[in-house]
Amino acid sequence: MIYPIVAYGDPVLRRKAQNVEPGQIDLIKLSQDMFDTMYAAHGVGLACPQIGLSLRMFVVDGKPMDESMVGFKKVFVNPKILSETGESWAFEEGCLSIPGIREDVQRNPVIRMRYLDEHWKEHEEEFDDLRARIIQHEYDHIEGVLFTDYLSGFKKRILKGKLTGITRGKVDIDYKMRFPLKT
Ligand code: NI
Repeated sequence: MIYPIVAYGDPVLRRKAQNVEPGQIDLIKLSQDMFDTMYAAHGVGLACPQIGLSLRMFVVDGKPMDESMVGFKKVFVNPKILSETGESWAFEEGCLSIPGIREDVQRNPVIRMRYLDEHWKEHEEEFDDLRARIIQHEYDHIEGVLFTDYLSGFKKRILKGKLTGITRGKVDIDYKMRFPLKT
């Protein structure tokens, strides 16, 4: 099942998401639906709040972004970032909930994570480079943070009109979205 992706301006994207409780949802089914939704939108990561579910879960598959990430297809449930280290680097990020906007964001290159997979198996693992980048972006979603929050006041003012347009559905996209203020 392909979900419509929630657009910028929807309050669910600003909520700190809740932990998934054991047996609360069918994780296999939900992660499959999230991958289907993400692939239909040509994304490399998708978090539960982006489909309107305020739960601490996201999926990633870096393959479409870079050949070096073949096999980096994972489900993260109730993840915790244990550490973020290394000298921060800039990378141009985008977001399926904020189509048409791409901006440089500074993040640390190495992270250590503890998380459950879709089989409720616990992992502790280190990720770096683009893998860490994708995870940090998705992790922000379950904390109610968007990449545009990191931009300077000047940049934010420049983008304000565009962001309001997204909230109202004024976007050119080829995937299903749900807009908070579309009339
Ligand atoms: Ni995003």
